[in-house]
Amino acid sequence: MTTHTLRSRNWFGRMDLDGFATRSWLKTEGFSDLMFDGRPVIGIANSWSELTNCNAHLRQVAEAVKRGALSAGGFPLEFPTISLGEVLMKPTTMLFRNLMAMDVEECIRAYPLDAVVLLSGCDKTTPAMLMGAASADVPAIIVTGGPMLRGKWRQEELGSGTDLWRLWAERRAGRLTDEELCEAESCMSRSSGHCMVMGTASTMASMVEALGMTLPGNAAIPAPDSRRLAQAELAGRRAVEMAKAGGPKPSEILTARAFDNAIRALMAVGGSTNAVIHLLAVAGRAGVPLTLARFDELSRTTPFLLNLRPSGKYLMEDFFYAGGLPVVLKELLPLLHAEAPTVNGRSIADNVRDAHCWNDDVIRPLGVPLASEGGLAILTGNLCPDGAVIKVSAASPQLLTHRGRAVVFEDHADLHERIDDPKLPIDEHSVLVLKQVGPKGAPGMPEWGAAPVPARLLQRGVKDMVRISDARMSGTSYGTVVLHVAPESAVGGPLALVRDGDEIELDAPRRTLTLRVGDEELAKRKAVWKPRPPHFARGYGRLFLDHVLQANEGCDFDYLRGRTPVRFEDSAGPSHA
Ligand code: FES
Repeated sequence: MTTHTLRSRNWFGRMDLDGFATRSWLKTEGFSDLMFDGRPVIGIANSWSELTNCNAHLRQVAEAVKRGALSAGGFPLEFPTISLGEVLMKPTTMLFRNLMAMDVEECIRAYPLDAVVLLSGCDKTTPAMLMGAASADVPAIIVTGGPMLRGKWRQEELGSGTDLWRLWAERRAGRLTDEELCEAESCMSRSSGHCMVMGTASTMASMVEALGMTLPGNAAIPAPDSRRLAQAELAGRRAVEMAKAGGPKPSEILTARAFDNAIRALMAVGGSTNAVIHLLAVAGRAGVPLTLARFDELSRTTPFLLNLRPSGKYLMEDFFYAGGLPVVLKELLPLLHAEAPTVNGRSIADNVRDAHCWNDDVIRPLGVPLASEGGLAILTGNLCPDGAVIKVSAASPQLLTHRGRAVVFEDHADLHERIDDPKLPIDEHSVLVLKQVGPKGAPGMPEWGAAPVPARLLQRGVKDMVRISDARMSGTSYGTVVLHVAPESAVGGPLALVRDGDEIELDAPRRTLTLRVGDEELAKRKAVWKPRPPHFARGYGRLFLDHVLQANEGCDFDYLRGRTPVRFEDSAGPSHA
């Protein structure tokens, strides 16, 4: 039963010029009068694109959502959003996440939608959808596209990204031919879906499930599995119920308790460092005061449970067969805000109470974790006054406490020009410092943080070294990599002042990152430091540079934080002269 006046009635329920026009024009698509009889309109925001391979199957998913919405008495209408293809888009999809969030928010606001189903998959498409929906605040439910099936090459299981980096390092060390590399690349990506390790896409799918914005079990269902479409159908049905009830809205779900739950889940699954930035951005939209300190607080008290690459052994398909995220959440229940609501109208606890673990080597019980603390740590110190992030679960344990001399690269081009220079004075004890790769510096904060280990060290068997930058890194990457240094070097943060030979100390257990250079010397360096000219003088790039926040604030635009809920009265009045 509909409990309130549907927003869409302000378009289709009017017997005036505007009502005549909106119904008449939509009838060009072949809809009968039945569709305008007062049933809720369900928008299906689709980030399908052939340029976003991870989302290229979402048209089929949209059809399943439509089937569900129609069967529940809704009127589904699919619309495209811009799409952010991680692998093809230059310089980085992160430059455009906020643009996509604006697109989503404004489409929800401008069209006659009573609820929305948001279809996402690749890394940035999920947070962008969530940010837009949080600001517009109409009832919303997310369906992610699901991970690819596991890769398999010569009896070896391959994980997207994680094994790409490993095989590429083998190629650089001369242990793999071009032909073998080409063969492996076909075997690695053999189905639709997003990266199938616990990279950023799988992490963000887990985050939206832990936040309560998807139906339970959504995150891990493989993209080609028929149960993905069944889940989408149910989401379409549920969206109709939410539209009729007028909620729950994102503002009722995205509370401080929900973010705590998501952060606990992030730590337990050994999720991507990128989730820190995205959760900060979503919290900013939802009006929840979230800081990096909260991530560290919860990390220290959340056991690491999920044995998935890049931090562990298995792949997303194994996670699904073991029971998926509901099992992780069930294990975490004693640490969660169990009563937090979710889009299906039930609490997190109610959703996961009957979950069963079918493989406790993939999902460890709370009492027998892989590690007693979470996978991510937040660092502070004079090199990162506003914080930095390290994925300890994917780092080399012996490097987590390390003191070494800096080898500085002034930007990404400098890194690529000199990293394999035989004259470069670098060894496994050095600390590789990369500047100008943050939100404004690169621009867009690309995933350049896991800088390559020099080939001559790789040939000697060195696989990891401490690397520090203001960039991000792919959720599929691994290594002792300090990321998101804030403030970034491009705005004159202390990272900008590091010089070759400076001593740097990383102490992850104590959560510190220290540049062992005196304050007086740093002040002298700061006095002569000059910012580089901006990358853009016009267009969206200019907007980005003028308004992007630093990593510790989620890299949203300053003026986009908060929400402007869509109101019934906003849609009043004719749109025709
Ligand atoms: Fe899309 Fe990895 S490239 S999720």
